[in-house]
Amino acid sequence: MPAEIALVSTDTIAHAADILRSGGLVGMPTETVYGLAADATSGKAIARLYDAKGRPRFNPLIAHICGVEMAEREVELSAMAHQLTETFWPGPLTLVLPAKKTGTVSDLARAGLRSLAIRCPEHTAARALIETLDRPIVAPSANRSGHVSPTNAQHVALDLGEKIDFILDAGPCERGIESTIIDLTSDTPRLLRAGAIATEHIEEIINRKLSHRSDIESINAPGQLKSHYAPAASVRLNAHEAKDNEAMLGFGDIQGDLNLSTRGDLIEAAANLFAMLRQLDTSHDKIAIAPIPTHGLGEAINDRLSRAAHRD
Ligand code: TXA
Ligand code: MG
Repeated sequence: MPAEIALVSTDTIAHAADILRSGGLVGMPTETVYGLAADATSGKAIARLYDAKGRPRFNPLIAHICGVEMAEREVELSAMAHQLTETFWPGPLTLVLPAKKTGTVSDLARAGLRSLAIRCPEHTAARALIETLDRPIVAPSANRSGHVSPTNAQHVALDLGEKIDFILDAGPCERGIESTIIDLTSDTPRLLRAGAIATEHIEEIINRKLSHRSDIESINAPGQLKSHYAPAASVRLNAHEAKDNEAMLGFGDIQGDLNLSTRGDLIEAAANLFAMLRQLDTSHDKIAIAPIPTHGLGEAINDRLSRAAHRD
């Protein structure tokens, strides 16, 4: 039986927390994309989550917490980590930090790593769910592994409806693109994933440049597989017009069947990206996409597009 979809309310949050407490899986809205929530302290629930997503086993998950106090039970927060949490939490910044031995998050969620990725979402429903459960929640994007991330409750139902227990519906996600991930486990802060907070903004706050992940690491963090966020249709980038049977995804002055942002606004484009890719994917075998500038959120958008275009 497909999972019930229910609008967010005090009652449905309480119901969702009960499901999580008994080891179940819940589609959870966040400001970035919908997550597939499980109790981060339960190895059993997390094993079920990996199975539902069809995700490569060794891909670690982000623990979602509702404030610095809960974070400090799980990880060692450095001075730089505090500087970043003060500016960006709650919000779409994920920090990878050394896990504490006394932490409650299951080893399976960390895929055996000594570090833990931690994020404090801004979305009121996600916050309420974490507070009600009173434990960290792991939440990978609620799509089948490798597929386009979900930005509304219907996307979650289409991808995972048969495999999960409940879906909380809070309408479309405001940001539409995943959190930015920074690794703070060494002396050199590193960008692991460009995302909803622009890299430049983070560099401004810590007053130094972020280094970038090396290719060796990209093998170790399979969430960063080259072919990821992939629609079934083939994708052609930096297109100025559609050819033959292509659907055209426009941006700014470059028109198309759909347009990420006619105003050329990168924030609006990020919010529309995954939903528009899904929509064109249902009607066409080929999608051409207009060039997107590389500054600000354009870095994250181009990262997702190049993965969508890549074929193994
Ligand atoms: O915006 C988001 O972050 C969304 C929403 C639902 O919160 N979540 C999300 O989770 O995008 P997921 O699992 O789809 O992506 C998490 C990424 C993966 O690429 C994973 O490899 C990386 O974070 N990651 C998690 N823990 C890590 C760790 N300890 N070290 C390095 N990378 C890690
Ligand atoms: Mg994902």
